[in-house]
Amino acid sequence: MPHREHFSILVIEDNEGDFILIEEFLLAQFEDAAIKHCKNYTTAKKVLTEHTDQFNVILLDLSLPDKHGVDLIKEVVSFGVTVPIIVLTGYIDFEFGVKSLSLGVSDYLLKEELTALSLYKSIIYNVERKKITATLEESEKRVRTFAKQLSDVVEEERSRIAREIHDEFGQQLSGLKMSLTSLKRFSEPGNDIASVIDALLLDINQSISTIRQIANELRPALLDKLGLFAAIEWLLNQFQQKSGIDTRIYIDIDQPPINKSIEINIFRIFQEVLTNIYKHANATLVNIRIENRDGVINMKIIDNGRGIKSSTLHNPMSMGLLNMKERAILIGAELNISSADNSGTTVELIFDVNQKQTLENKRVLYN
Ligand SMILES: Nc1ncnc2c1ncn2[C@@H]1O[C@H](COP(=O)(O)OP(=O)(O)OP(=O)(O)O)[C@@H](O)[C@H]1O
Ligand SMILES: [Mg+2]
Repeated sequence: MPHREHFSILVIEDNEGDFILIEEFLLAQFEDAAIKHCKNYTTAKKVLTEHTDQFNVILLDLSLPDKHGVDLIKEVVSFGVTVPIIVLTGYIDFEFGVKSLSLGVSDYLLKEELTALSLYKSIIYNVERKKITATLEESEKRVRTFAKQLSDVVEEERSRIAREIHDEFGQQLSGLKMSLTSLKRFSEPGNDIASVIDALLLDINQSISTIRQIANELRPALLDKLGLFAAIEWLLNQFQQKSGIDTRIYIDIDQPPINKSIEINIFRIFQEVLTNIYKHANATLVNIRIENRDGVINMKIIDNGRGIKSSTLHNPMSMGLLNMKERAILIGAELNISSADNSGTTVELIFDVNQKQTLENKRVLYN
């Protein structure tokens, strides 16, 4: 029974004979089909620029007189974000047809085997699938936006608490220290009261340094004052003191201006990587390299420890690793983690400082 719903179909096909056959197949299945025919890419481009959303599906021949193959697919895909594209290929292009799926095409059909029914099935299936994918993508985007807002709020709150602790408690303790120092002037040197005051001063100094440490752990003041690179150097220094693991750092660029929310996400990734090295790697050396590669910042943290098992690397329950990936996606950076048994781990973060802050998905690779 023919399909009743209205269907608008764009057929990009230069071969007149092939088009007539395709049109016949379409009209046999779709009762109310509006078929638009373009014989070359230039005309198709014009139609797509003006009316992309008007079509339910695009049928694309792979070799047109003015464009073909990968180039053609890339161009058409860039228009049809919400419209499924079905490639029609000949036997000779079969392998390429398969490859085209990775370029964003929804399906490929062999012209030699095309029937009205197979074409119909493919169109209905891919139109539905595209709708579901679009809904999923939309909801993933919403979740990411929410995660980003949540992360910003958490960071703001941390920053506020760090400031309060540092300024309020810190000031009060410094005041107490001054009062005790003046009190000490009224006591005889070496008597009992003087030594109690000395002990109190020692305690207060200890409390001041603990408060600084807590405030810094919540939100490193250096990050806001001197920027990301200085904060990373400080973090590595702290790490070396705490772990006893040897560290090296090489930075070949000046600190570029980076959005604060991006800086804090990169800093948190570094924190997690170093904590992981401390907890799990059994390493003796950690090397950080920050390099400028044609305006793109390449950051690497390399340890010479036991390495991460591939199954652990791909385990969706590894929350620390998952968090790093999510943070990278949020700031539009690329995160690569490569590791092999007993040959250490390298975490690489590639980030374009000139890009607009983005929520777009970027690749996260594991080797
Ligand atoms: N540099 C590393 N060297 C060796 N193993 C690592 C390294 N980093 C991570 N791992 C392994 O990967 C696992 C997952 O890391 P992840 O950070 O997700 O979790 P965690 O550190 O165990 O816990 P959490 O971060 O949630 O406190 C670790 O348990 C550890 O086995
Ligand atoms: Mg961890």
